[in-house]
Amino acid sequence: MTAHPTLAVRIWRGGVDGAFRDYVVPRQPSQTVLDVVTHVQRHVDATLAYRFACRVGMCGSCAMTVNGKARWTCRTHVDAVGTRDRLEIAPLANLPVVRDLVVDMAPFFDKWAQARGAFVPTATRADAFARVPPSSAQRQAVDEAIECIGCAVCYASCDVVSWKPDYLGPAALNRAWTLQNDVRDGAAGERLRAVAGDAGCHACHTHQSCTARCPKHLAPTRSIAGLKRVATRAALDGSL
Ligand code: SF4
Ligand code: SF4
Ligand code: FES
Repeated sequence: MTAHPTLAVRIWRGGVDGAFRDYVVPRQPSQTVLDVVTHVQRHVDATLAYRFACRVGMCGSCAMTVNGKARWTCRTHVDAVGTRDRLEIAPLANLPVVRDLVVDMAPFFDKWAQARGAFVPTATRADAFARVPPSSAQRQAVDEAIECIGCAVCYASCDVVSWKPDYLGPAALNRAWTLQNDVRDGAAGERLRAVAGDAGCHACHTHQSCTARCPKHLAPTRSIAGLKRVATRAALDGSL
């Protein structure tokens, strides 16, 4: 058992003009931040709004701001996030607050669409399966960046998104990079034009907050650097 029998928790309540409210939650061994929020909702105040689905780090729906930093709450142990008997939980930054710990994810996913984040097939059902050697450079670039769960932790941690709300952001650009390296995809030119504009890859200041905070240990900064390279080359040879 832990040294502290209870945890003092501050949780954001209401919309953007809401305020923190204080709760006391019993400590448990291996307790996650999501366990704490769930305790408050089930045993203290059933009106508390929050999101989760898988509880095992796969769905990306449980991200919140915990002690000032964006995190996936189902895989974040209370013991790992600062002071052991105090916790502050707020909605993700850089997205509109709907209520309590729930943000509107629409702007985040709209930017995936703007970055042409959907695969555009070139083959038909009649064609054989594509063979993409795992050792090829393009396949390796895809493999390094593909495990994104769409949690928006990187987006909430990006200063450029805060300063420039139309910036496509690390997750959408990371997705675009995986598709630019997918030899089966047929929309590379259109996608490059979508990510090379003022709100695209060149707006990234390479601060690496996204890479530092991504719970899946992806490196959106590296993907964005790849897009910058390809976009610059295309601009120089006149193909952009
Ligand atoms: S590296 Fe680029 S995308 Fe990532 S947090 Fe910094 S500015 Fe944002
Ligand atoms: S890149 Fe990482 S932090 Fe960003 S949405 Fe994907 S999994 Fe989450
Ligand atoms: S609840 Fe699915 S990632 Fe946390």
